[in-house]
Amino acid sequence: MKINYVLLQLFLCIITVLNYVQPDPDPLQDYCVAETRNTRNLFHNGQPCINPDLAIASHFATSALSKSGSTGNQFGFNVTLTNINNLPGLNTQGLVMGRIDIAANGLIPPHSHPRASEVTILLKGSLLVGFVDTTNRLYTQQLRPGDSFVFPKGLIHFLYNIDPVNAALAVSGLSSQNPGAQISSMATFVSKPPIPDEILKKGFKINNQDVMRIRRNLGG
Ligand SMILES: *[C@@H]1O[C@H](CO)[C@@H](O)[C@H](O)[C@H]1NC(C)=O
Repeated sequence: MKINYVLLQLFLCIITVLNYVQPDPDPLQDYCVAETRNTRNLFHNGQPCINPDLAIASHFATSALSKSGSTGNQFGFNVTLTNINNLPGLNTQGLVMGRIDIAANGLIPPHSHPRASEVTILLKGSLLVGFVDTTNRLYTQQLRPGDSFVFPKGLIHFLYNIDPVNAALAVSGLSSQNPGAQISSMATFVSKPPIPDEILKKGFKINNQDVMRIRRNLGG
């Protein structure tokens, strides 16, 4: 009886761990070119596919990452992602690619991707990158062109262009077709509706003025 109970616990534990490390589900066919029209009222995990007989090569190609995004925003960065609209052939394949443009001294502020690990290669410029693990240990590295860095799934990370003159260009692969992105400062201080001041004051050990100033600085 006792042994059975222990085995059951162990079994449940393994199942939990397996579920936890599971990436997007594997495709059940060669491909599933996204059917992006007329599915507005249909919700399920992923997008339905077109008839495979109707698939053409251009469903698997895109120029979406050929141009730099505008970096004229408050942090000086722009991430352009492939997605099922500009690259319908990636539906169900469990990945996307991102083009990352960062202006001189621009920053992609601490953020996380709840559904994806990320690997980045720096093509131009120089970046200081890093992530913090769940014990609050920081791992940071300075990248030169050609260097890669991996950001483990869900962990808070940043990319900073340390060059005061030149823009940086990097490319990332992410292990989900819908990685999601949450910028820590924005999620905390300019959510809609806002998190009550009392929570932010207590959580960050700051006063009313601090809360107001940070909100204003972040455009909230
Ligand atoms: C990124 O660049 C595109 C194209 O220039 C622009 O439309 C978009 O607003 C930019 N995004 C941000 C966050 O600045």
